[in-house]
Amino acid sequence: MDKFSIHGGEPLKGTIEISGAKNSALPCLAATLLTAETVTLHNVPYVKDLITQRRLLEDLGATVLTPELRTHKVTAKNIETFEAPYELVKTMRASVLALGPLLARFGQAKVSLPGGCAIGTRPIDLHLKAFEQLGATVSLESGDVVARAPRGRLIGAEIGFEKVTVTGTENVMMAAALAKGKTTIHNAAREPEIEDLAELLNKMGARIKGAGTETMEIEGVEQLSGAEHTIIPDRIETGTFIVAAAITNGELEIRRCEPKHLRAVIEKLREAGVEIEDLNQSSLLVKRSAKGLTAKDVKTEPHPLFPTDMQAQYMALMTQAEGVSTIRETIFENRFMHASELIRMGAKIDFSGNTARISGKAKLTGARVQASDLRASASLVLAALCASGETQIDRVYHIDRGYENIVAKLGAVGAKIERLTDGIAMAAEK
Ligand code: UD1
Repeated sequence: MDKFSIHGGEPLKGTIEISGAKNSALPCLAATLLTAETVTLHNVPYVKDLITQRRLLEDLGATVLTPELRTHKVTAKNIETFEAPYELVKTMRASVLALGPLLARFGQAKVSLPGGCAIGTRPIDLHLKAFEQLGATVSLESGDVVARAPRGRLIGAEIGFEKVTVTGTENVMMAAALAKGKTTIHNAAREPEIEDLAELLNKMGARIKGAGTETMEIEGVEQLSGAEHTIIPDRIETGTFIVAAAITNGELEIRRCEPKHLRAVIEKLREAGVEIEDLNQSSLLVKRSAKGLTAKDVKTEPHPLFPTDMQAQYMALMTQAEGVSTIRETIFENRFMHASELIRMGAKIDFSGNTARISGKAKLTGARVQASDLRASASLVLAALCASGETQIDRVYHIDRGYENIVAKLGAVGAKIERLTDGIAMAAEK
């Protein structure tokens, strides 16, 4: 199993470019199942989850061409099966995004029920309830969710989510796009990835209004057509590199990002003593303020507030801030797995329920640590970048799921980071 070896203490300096958003590319690829025509997506990040999503489309019978590395041309004309198998769903929960489009276009879908994962139980009950409200029958058969639309077509409905769910909202958007009549989604997720998906679907001929607000209206159409779309930049990768500049006391220019998608993160980091200058609409210049970092509390909440996907990275930063900060995680249970590894590196963190209390500033030292999920791995990389000595991070397959070429990107701005495959150092990926 691959590891990262990081020798900390180097201030990062230079320019870093942000890749396309994983969490936008995943639903956009699923949306290609809604039409028999070709959908071309640009800026699809080259990360493991997208390779898995591509495999899922191909398993279903779609043709996926990549004329260029980050461009996917998908034609879902000859769909042969309506089933997402367990072996794919278990490696990537976002495979459940195939449910909405398959059900909407073919009137049937079968997807393995995702099991528990490292950051809590993560049910999909809200997706399934919404499909039922759209007229589907949903049953659980030998661990698979089987959904059928009576007479082959879903019917528009009023959907009110009890809890904000990102992929749940996306699944309903895709299902309702081809349903008969109008669907209204109340308490919809407002993440930028929702707006990106709506933009793609509208280019395909869908009639979606209100994406990015709490209430979305979708007028179902008979069929959708091909389209071409460029995926938005990854706001979590952007936030991670902002923290990388601050935690190493370096200076990074972050290009090809969309600062307006992470305003809550930028504001919080500025309060904590990170200087973030908007150079233009898509570039930021980041460095630590001369006064240093100060502890500031954070609570994770749905967009536009502070995202749970930046919680672990923020915790790494807070170990280097003067004072005591609290981090309250309100989206997922069990999402402090990185904390025990940070403690092994010298961080001072204690817990009370869903709140972590971090006492800074701690001197971190390199250690052998283990990644437990995607964002937890990013937090360990950040801690390692400012720790003294060598840190070896095990199970980096988690980070490969969502960060494109992180070894090369960090290496190019001065980080001493290597990927070890069975103990052998690998040249940075191009
Ligand atoms: C998406 C993101 C993930 C991010 C999360 C929260 C993708 C591919 N993943 O995950 O990176 O961390 O949003 O911003 O976009 N819930 C239920 N029942 C459901 C669905 C959700 O109880 O049917 C709960 C979840 O357990 C969680 C909360 O609702 O407590 C929010 O989850 P949700 O927004 O659905 O997360 P994902 O869409 O899975």
